[in-house]
Amino acid sequence: MNRVAKKESMMTEDEDKHIPVLPRETLAALDIKADGVYADCTLGGGGHSQLIAGKLAEGSGRLIGFDRYARSLEIVRKRLEWFPRFEAVHADFKDFGRVWDELQLPPADGVLYDLGLSSIQLDDAKMGLSFMRDDPLDMRYDGTESTETAADIIAAASEAELLNLFFRFGERRARRIARKIVEERELSPIETTGRLSKVIASVSKRGRSRVHPATRCFLALRSRVNRELESLAESLPAAIGRLKRGGRIVVLTYHSLEARITKDIFTRAARGCSCELPHDECMCSGEPLVKWVNRKSVKPSEEEIYENPRARSAQLRSVERL
Ligand SMILES: C[S@@+](CC[C@H](N)C(=O)[O-])C[C@H]1O[C@@H](n2cnc3c(N)ncnc32)[C@H](O)[C@@H]1O
Repeated sequence: MNRVAKKESMMTEDEDKHIPVLPRETLAALDIKADGVYADCTLGGGGHSQLIAGKLAEGSGRLIGFDRYARSLEIVRKRLEWFPRFEAVHADFKDFGRVWDELQLPPADGVLYDLGLSSIQLDDAKMGLSFMRDDPLDMRYDGTESTETAADIIAAASEAELLNLFFRFGERRARRIARKIVEERELSPIETTGRLSKVIASVSKRGRSRVHPATRCFLALRSRVNRELESLAESLPAAIGRLKRGGRIVVLTYHSLEARITKDIFTRAARGCSCELPHDECMCSGEPLVKWVNRKSVKPSEEEIYENPRARSAQLRSVERL
């Protein structure tokens, strides 16, 4: 048994909880060089990191991991104990540029983003992320005391703000749900995932859909609490700027808003534009920074979705630095 296989056979229950999505396709898109420097911006349970480290172990390559969820760092540090050239950083990937520069790292050969949350977080009661349980309605990945919880947003947002938030994330019953939340919170504060999930379900018909009626509202709240879209929009340009020529960025997205931000930033970088202006106002005359590797997204097979239902909405896109 080789070192990676031996470690996998000793995996703890937590590491095992989160199955990496599109594992082969992700490695292929990263096109790992055994002596390269790689970043996994979303360590999670370390599934992808383990695979990347397995390739880097054949040479002198290094892996830098980021996560906002402290427990992920503990889990992955333990999981990668066998790989000495791994460093885990407790940081939001929006600070990718600052962290990379502070660590005085050379230009990267590859950077991976596997967005969203891990199954480990979903099962962590104090995170308050799951509508399948009844936990305090928190949702902060990093537990930072100073930032708003989902309960704070549910308590303070106006009906119009809730409507807009849910609608933006594709919830067709956003109006009814927002109104019901406002009615219910006047009776008593909505402070648990179970209560919020029931309030949403009370105005949503499940029909024949296998998707829980609270899915999109929970996604919208989680994304807003953790400023997920803003972090992605800040991080991708910083990562492009720190890629070596021939280095790759691979992004796994799980909903259309993440996919749109990724496509927009990559498209502009491939066209030679790096400014923040809307497309029709852009005056950039810069050279293209990247070329597409996977402009058309790579999606999981039926077989992978059967084995790992979490993969069902995954889309992989990647670019290479010119
Ligand atoms: C889908 S999981 C990654 C799973 C991982 N690829 C694996 O195979 O186990 C996403 C991880 O990204 C982390 N995360 C999400 N947004 C982040 C951000 N802005 N900065 C750093 N970590 C973030 C979450 O805490 C979570 O652990």
